Amino acid sequence: MGGLEQVWNGRFLVLLLLMPTVLGWGPEGHYTTCKIAEGYLGKDAVAAVKDLLPASAEGDLASLCSWPDDVRKTPQYRWSADLHFADTPDFKCNYEYCRDCHDFYGNKDRCVTAAIQNYTRQLIKSESKYNLTEALIFLSHFVGDAHQPLHMGFVGDLGGNIIKLNWYDEQTNLHRVWDDKIIESALKKFYGSDLKVMIQAIQRKITNNWSDDITFWEQCSNNSIACPDRYASESISLACKYAYINATRGSTLGDDYFISGLPVVEKRLAQGGVRLAAILNRIFARKIRIAQA
Ligand SMILES: *[C@@H]1O[C@H](CO)[C@@H](O)[C@H](O)[C@H]1NC(C)=O
Ligand SMILES: *[C@@H]1O[C@H](CO)[C@@H](O)[C@H](O)[C@H]1NC(C)=O
Ligand SMILES: *[C@@H]1O[C@H](CO)[C@@H](O)[C@H](O)[C@H]1NC(C)=O
Ligand SMILES: *[C@@H]1O[C@H](CO)[C@@H](O)[C@H](O)[C@H]1NC(C)=O
Ligand SMILES: *[C@@H]1O[C@H](CO)[C@@H](O)[C@H](O)[C@H]1NC(C)=O
Ligand SMILES: [Zn+2]
Repeated sequence: MGGLEQVWNGRFLVLLLLMPTVLGWGPEGHYTTCKIAEGYLGKDAVAAVKDLLPASAEGDLASLCSWPDDVRKTPQYRWSADLHFADTPDFKCNYEYCRDCHDFYGNKDRCVTAAIQNYTRQLIKSESKYNLTEALIFLSHFVGDAHQPLHMGFVGDLGGNIIKLNWYDEQTNLHRVWDDKIIESALKKFYGSDLKVMIQAIQRKITNNWSDDITFWEQCSNNSIACPDRYASESISLACKYAYINATRGSTLGDDYFISGLPVVEKRLAQGGVRLAAILNRIFARKIRIAQA
């Protein structure tokens, strides 16, 4: 079975942190989102997460949050590759579930927002036919992905993947800039290349700058447990307002773009983390209430 077993090994995690990915925040982004979520989990969710994770993870959800990116290219998990994103029509700058949530071949309900609902449902129902360890890890990963603006990017450029350009003096593509490059540059320039320091800085911003927004971030209308369509709508708006600006084929993105993009990236990592925690708290608090009824 490989994948998860290896990621559970701490040394492999270090390797993962150095590996480039094409879909989703890179390993640093997913680690950050899940680490922030850990700080907002209630007692019930902490216990449930610890129960579901393999013992070797020692309750640390963040250590496994990149696993879905690691396995999506393997034959056994190829079906999951379309669940990391949803493309939206070129220059529409909005997201609609019925229109946009499908895979490359047009099969309905194959996209990141459907996946978030899917794994939320599995965890609530707690049915033994599902592997709930995988459900928890997929959910945690996909909530992160839904917050990466270019995961709702234009279909014509595959969410920025085919826009080849330069990040400072390095050749890459626009999608990677938002998955990895902005985070990597921030780590180097501001955080002494230490992910822990960056996470602490984001945690401080949540407490000092965004504390009034947290309740709003956490809420879903109609008492829903998760509201991925909202995260997706925000993402494509941000993609149009920030990610696609000046990012044409062959262009070079540097300081101006970095300074404008970094606050967006940090806020999306924060929102993803706070919302993942809210979702897990709602799932597991509710399960315990049902069990006691
Ligand atoms: C729902 O989860 C099951 C089990 O992992 C998977 O086979 C199915 O493809 C998932 N569907 C979506 C839309 O996430
Ligand atoms: C659930 O999935 C994990 C990761 O793929 C695997 O290691 C574990 O054996 C699975 N559990 C069951 C009961 O199949
Ligand atoms: C966050 O709050 C601190 C302290 O209140 C302030 O100095 C800083 O400028 C704020 N940062 C942002 C990005 O708003
Ligand atoms: C909430 O419920 C109302 C009334 O049932 C419905 O019209 C609306 O579409 C729902 N909103 C969401 C986001 O599901
Ligand atoms: C976009 O390009 C214009 C013209 O070069 C520049 O003034 C502006 O700062 C750039 N914006 C970003 C976000 O890179
Ligand atoms: Zn992903």
